[in-house]
Amino acid sequence: MKDKTFLMIPGPTPVPESVMLDIAKHPIGHRSSEFSSILEEVYENLKYVFQTKNDVFMFTSSGTGAMCAALENLINEGDKVLSLVIGNFGNRWAKIAESRGAKVEKIEVAAGEVIDPEILKLALSEDKNKEIKIVTLTHSETSTGAANDIKTLCSIIREHGAISVVDGVTSVCAMPCKPDEWGIDVLISGSQKGFMVPPGLAFLTANERAWKVYEQCKHPSFYFDWAAYKKSVQANSTPFTPAVNLIVGLNTALKMIKQEGIEKVNNRHKRHAMALRKALRTMNLKLLVPQDENASYAITSILPPEGISVPDIRKALKEDYDIVVANGQNQLKDKIFRMGTLGFVCDRDLIASVGALEAVLHKLGHNFAIGEGVKTIILELEK
Ligand SMILES: Cc1ncc(COP(=O)(O)O)c(C=O)c1O
Repeated sequence: MKDKTFLMIPGPTPVPESVMLDIAKHPIGHRSSEFSSILEEVYENLKYVFQTKNDVFMFTSSGTGAMCAALENLINEGDKVLSLVIGNFGNRWAKIAESRGAKVEKIEVAAGEVIDPEILKLALSEDKNKEIKIVTLTHSETSTGAANDIKTLCSIIREHGAISVVDGVTSVCAMPCKPDEWGIDVLISGSQKGFMVPPGLAFLTANERAWKVYEQCKHPSFYFDWAAYKKSVQANSTPFTPAVNLIVGLNTALKMIKQEGIEKVNNRHKRHAMALRKALRTMNLKLLVPQDENASYAITSILPPEGISVPDIRKALKEDYDIVVANGQNQLKDKIFRMGTLGFVCDRDLIASVGALEAVLHKLGHNFAIGEGVKTIILELEK
């Protein structure tokens, strides 16, 4: 059967029908009063989802645009940046910082591992002259499925005095992420993830400490200039022509999130990710992130069974069941496959996906007790 694709990837994620129908309407003028009232609701509800009293800026770009919007407004040539790298996206922060002439140092761990707070403490204690101006880090590292303890790491960074710049692209909505309470100075995310909206919008929130650093930036970005976005948020407007239709859809999606409640949305993701991890283990599958406490609630990376290839698993899932799971990235390509539990995902989707994965692995000759995965996911989701 065609036209029944289900995305179990960590973005783009499935989009609710009501959001798609809103996006499908005729565009409205971005300077109209109608659009301005939509923006008013969107800006207010973004603050709710980001759990911050500060403004949340919205860019017409992918998540990487928001990463550029963060660093390009903070860095002057020669500034020292410490990048905590637990995967591909942590490394992207380092590359962006380097592109602005920063001197970048990295703390890097093996795929599947997270940053040890003690190692960060030690590295920052060695910075006697407080030269490190910015520390970049990733909350949910989509390339591996590991998640850093952002609350602890950001409190260590705060003690040192540097600015923490956090990638929350696959954590905002999926995992508790509280910038004001935890002292995250800059937090970014993207629409095609937990927000249940197609790709094309990205978000950034910054606190007063970050604004002080912005004020010293000699060459802030033009398109992503924070000052322009701040002015626009206050006027329920945007500096440039935004992705009007996506914003109309986002308005509906944010209301859905608010109605469910952000804590419940976080808990749903946790429940799904943990149930999936348990089910996969009962199917004799190994996980790239072995400890549950280091696991992202948005994405789970799975090693293929001995003798069965990742492309074969992905191909069979797509051809037989129209379910899309992601390959590994870069050096992890064909070494892992990744299942997303991000955004508009319900219990039915989990039960169906685990069932389909069982069928595919059985067909490909994997040795496991057929039915165990489905049984486990049903029992776990019942709890
Ligand atoms: C953790 C993380 N950071 C950054 C990005 C980059 O976002 P985009 O591909 O929307 O530019 C992604 C995309 O998957 C991501 O998962």
